[in-house]
Amino acid sequence: MSETVIGARALLDLLGEWRGAGPSYEALADRLRLLVIDGRLPSGARLPAERELAADLGVSRTTVTAAYQRLREQRFAVSRQGSGTRTALPGAVRTPGAHPSGLLDFTKAALPAPSMMPDAVAEASTLLSPLLLDSGYDTLGLTVLREAVARRFTERGLPTDADQILVTVGAQQAIALLARALVSRGDRALIEAPTYPHAYDALGAAGARIVTVPVSTEGVDGWDVDVLESVMRRTSPAIAYLMPDFQNPTGRSMSAAVRRRVLAAAAAQGTIVVADETPAELDIDRPESFPPLATAAGGAHVITIGSASKTMWGGLRVGWIRAERAMIRRLHGVRATMDLGTPVLEQLVVARLFDRFDAVLAERRAALAAGREALEARLPAAFPDWTVPHVHGGLAVWAHIGAPVSSQLALAARSEGLLVTAGPRFGVDGAFERFLRLPLTSAPAQVDRAVAALQRAWPAASRHPLPEPGALAAVV
Ligand SMILES: Cc1ncc(COP(=O)(O)O)c(C=O)c1O
Repeated sequence: MSETVIGARALLDLLGEWRGAGPSYEALADRLRLLVIDGRLPSGARLPAERELAADLGVSRTTVTAAYQRLREQRFAVSRQGSGTRTALPGAVRTPGAHPSGLLDFTKAALPAPSMMPDAVAEASTLLSPLLLDSGYDTLGLTVLREAVARRFTERGLPTDADQILVTVGAQQAIALLARALVSRGDRALIEAPTYPHAYDALGAAGARIVTVPVSTEGVDGWDVDVLESVMRRTSPAIAYLMPDFQNPTGRSMSAAVRRRVLAAAAAQGTIVVADETPAELDIDRPESFPPLATAAGGAHVITIGSASKTMWGGLRVGWIRAERAMIRRLHGVRATMDLGTPVLEQLVVARLFDRFDAVLAERRAALAAGREALEARLPAAFPDWTVPHVHGGLAVWAHIGAPVSSQLALAARSEGLLVTAGPRFGVDGAFERFLRLPLTSAPAQVDRAVAALQRAWPAASRHPLPEPGALAAVV
């Protein structure tokens, strides 16, 4: 059986500036715990030997021993004679002293199910009868759903046939499937920084070497297209995984000019563009709307990912890939190595929801607008030093929190009853300590509770800001 072994060097990168206010062993244990909680360190990974980590961190071995001991006490690590210390995720993740009433979860930028759901489920269950005569193993997708998805692409300006659609178990499977089918070990894969973390997890699992292009909440364009062009030229990535609309987590959308340049750069290198348009229809009031990126493909090869998770409901676990027919056939062949199909009843529910999609989207727009309004009102009042960029839709805001304390804040917030993902989870190299992603998908009352929890957590997190990377003097 394969196992994940974390080398001291790799762990050093993940730890970043981990030292905090209290004793070193506590700060080290706290940071390791956060890395396990937010998935940057997988559960079950073997940690470096104490002596080795101590040497690389420049701390005493006693500090590492005490930190590992603290992790074991908190059930975030287990040690066995002869096989070292491994990370673990306790069954019920509860910070001692945290809210007994349950934690408020701001790590998921997703809405509850729309009000149309019960009707769609009732209709779907009546449509199920004839399908019960079949085996139920559906690796391609029900025709009725593939037609509905194709119709929606066509309405949005990208003529599409049902046989250009493969239905998947959420967009996440679509990403993993494309990574497996299109990336060979050692190939370069271009992603945005920051990006949707499970995408780089999937690309990394497929053996890709990741290269990044910055996306910022500042500036006219968001995407640094000069960098993108030069990275593409230098590295000729096999694929570029991009979110052109309401990028997760920044909320930015590519302008028409950025779209043109990205596609031209990809065409020049033969890079396949994987456009994850999962958030694309979560429009609140975007001044300009765009057809799917593949519409303007020109000479570029664009594969589109979509999902019912954010517009309809995450619990349906239905997503899709739109591509040329030959590519769909190829992906269909690879899919059976991952699973044996998308649940049938859920597909019928999504097909029924597509029949009332305008109403579903209107409800989503209202919920997202309320979440945005609450965040935009409460956050600047509570944290005058933060910058909360205005977004026109999508799932989240990417707040600049002024100091490099996002991981400390996320940790302190847990003790105040709030789960929130620290900025570095959206990057690959420990960057983004100055950012926090806050979902637009929460009701105003939850935003109130979350902001109050962040306010209570802030003093502990910010009292001892971490040294600026530049402030660490070079050793000469
Ligand atoms: C950009 C993006 N892609 C994919 C996913 C995963 O979606 P699904 O629930 O359909 O697997 C998400 C979920 O947050 C997302 O934001």
